[in-house]
Amino acid sequence: MHLIQVSLLFILPGVICGPLSASNSVENVVTLSYQGNNHARPIAKDIAALSIEFCYITDYLGDIDYPNSLSRVLLQNIEDIAGAPPVIRIGGHTQDAASFCATCPQTLNNTFAPGNDEAIAVNFNKGLFTVLNDNVPSRQEFIFGLNFASNDVAIPLAEVEAAEKYLRPCRLRAYELGNEPDFYGPSQRPRPWAVDQYVAEQEQWLDQLGSKTGKGFSIGALAQLPVWQGNFSLAEIVALGLPMKIDYTVSLSDHTYPYSRCDPVRESQVSLSGLMNHTALVEFFSQWTPEIKAANDAGIPFLMGETGSVSCHGVQGVSNTLGAALWELDYMLHGATMGMSGIYFHMGTPFYYSMWQPVPHNGTPATVYPTYYSLLFMATALRLNNPHIASIPVADTSLAIYALYNGLPSDAARPERIIILNMGVFESNPGGPIASVTSIDVSQLLGERIKITRLSGPGSDATSGATFAGQDYDSGRPSGKKVVEKAKGVVAVRGSEAVIVEKY
Ligand SMILES: *[C@@H]1O[C@H](CO)[C@@H](O)[C@H](O)[C@H]1NC(C)=O
Ligand SMILES: *[C@@H]1O[C@H](CO)[C@@H](O)[C@H](O)[C@H]1NC(C)=O
Ligand SMILES: *[C@@H]1O[C@H](CO)[C@@H](O)[C@H](O)[C@H]1NC(C)=O
Repeated sequence: MHLIQVSLLFILPGVICGPLSASNSVENVVTLSYQGNNHARPIAKDIAALSIEFCYITDYLGDIDYPNSLSRVLLQNIEDIAGAPPVIRIGGHTQDAASFCATCPQTLNNTFAPGNDEAIAVNFNKGLFTVLNDNVPSRQEFIFGLNFASNDVAIPLAEVEAAEKYLRPCRLRAYELGNEPDFYGPSQRPRPWAVDQYVAEQEQWLDQLGSKTGKGFSIGALAQLPVWQGNFSLAEIVALGLPMKIDYTVSLSDHTYPYSRCDPVRESQVSLSGLMNHTALVEFFSQWTPEIKAANDAGIPFLMGETGSVSCHGVQGVSNTLGAALWELDYMLHGATMGMSGIYFHMGTPFYYSMWQPVPHNGTPATVYPTYYSLLFMATALRLNNPHIASIPVADTSLAIYALYNGLPSDAARPERIIILNMGVFESNPGGPIASVTSIDVSQLLGERIKITRLSGPGSDATSGATFAGQDYDSGRPSGKKVVEKAKGVVAVRGSEAVIVEKY
């Protein structure tokens, strides 16, 4: 039983003027009605999280006594709203090329090979932990990625010993041993390399690492799609008992990118309209149901521990757009309804799926992308003591609608907030498609007196110009007058806008 749309009526252009009444807009009206709500489930307040490629961590956070001021304020904005900034996992391929070096002079020293944006060797000294301690908001936490691929347990042992010595314990949520171990090639692990070997080695290594720390481990970081992974899966790792054998498992994680530009065939399939397709998103993520269930049945949170729109570092004009921000919101909200506890969006200085570029690079200045606004939106939406979520199915496939409750709702409870994502593509260039504006009547759920906090921008393809509650964050800090709109039971949402609707 859920809240469903009961009427959908199309009104010709110009007949009704919504708040965004461009003369060439098309307006629909959708009415939400109360139908019971017995499948709301908890949504983690820290579901919106970040993953930073290990070799770029000092670009993002700066060096000793020189914090990156843009990153610091962008993280602080979220702490100011939500009480804590997004958790940051420091990892990726380059965690598996990293090692602690007590005598090295540099905080972080990357060695790059031509044409490769991921360092092939990374050394760091104790200064890195000073950066992680000092250059972030007070409630910052990290998942710290350790090197498993080099196949020498002495490397992660030295990393853990250094972290235990120099990193403030409150900064560390967990360690993670290895990035995408299911994809290790013969130079990283002798064959055969299958789930059995992985579980046996993890158990042995984590015994040694665990004896150095009171902190736990995030297990998995698997890359392969569930439809292809066979038994190299979280489900099999749980079945083989690894989470219960080690001291102790904090989370289980998979990684994914729904699109890829790693080869020409897949690159030709990348499109912003494809990314913004809610039906496709729901279908794509349905393959994780057994992975999530295995984790949650074992009482362990499931994380999408590294993720983004397009693998091999994103696509300009797709991954860094307002449309991608809408996709991130739909991903997090839908993921929560499936039982995902954290979605860790990956970042690196030259990567287009980064929410911001922290330093000038290749002639481009430090930049805040519209995707950052998904963090602001989630922090604001989830400001409840005990948030629960349910999706509200609607026939209009360009809409994704979610109800948020405070606590597990009784069957008669009305939502605290309604989130409406209009996934309709609306290109900011004047020759693009007509703006489709949908009016959603929420009065049966929230009454007539509603207030609206809006994420907007010039269009789906916009890589700048986004606003949240009327303010932009181009400089890191909010700029412009904060706007919370008021309306009488009906909210108009243009393609590529998202709103938080609540009573006032
Ligand atoms: C950085 O690492 C490379 C490769 O390991 C090494 O040759 C170089 O000396 C290091 N640079 C510094 C300043 O430590
Ligand atoms: C996983 O699948 C492979 C290939 O089918 C098989 O050889 C292996 O025994 C399986 N491992 C487990 C733990 O079931
Ligand atoms: C959205 O994705 C679904 C499922 O893959 C597909 O059937 C549908 O045609 C797509 N919609 C558009 C507008 O491309």
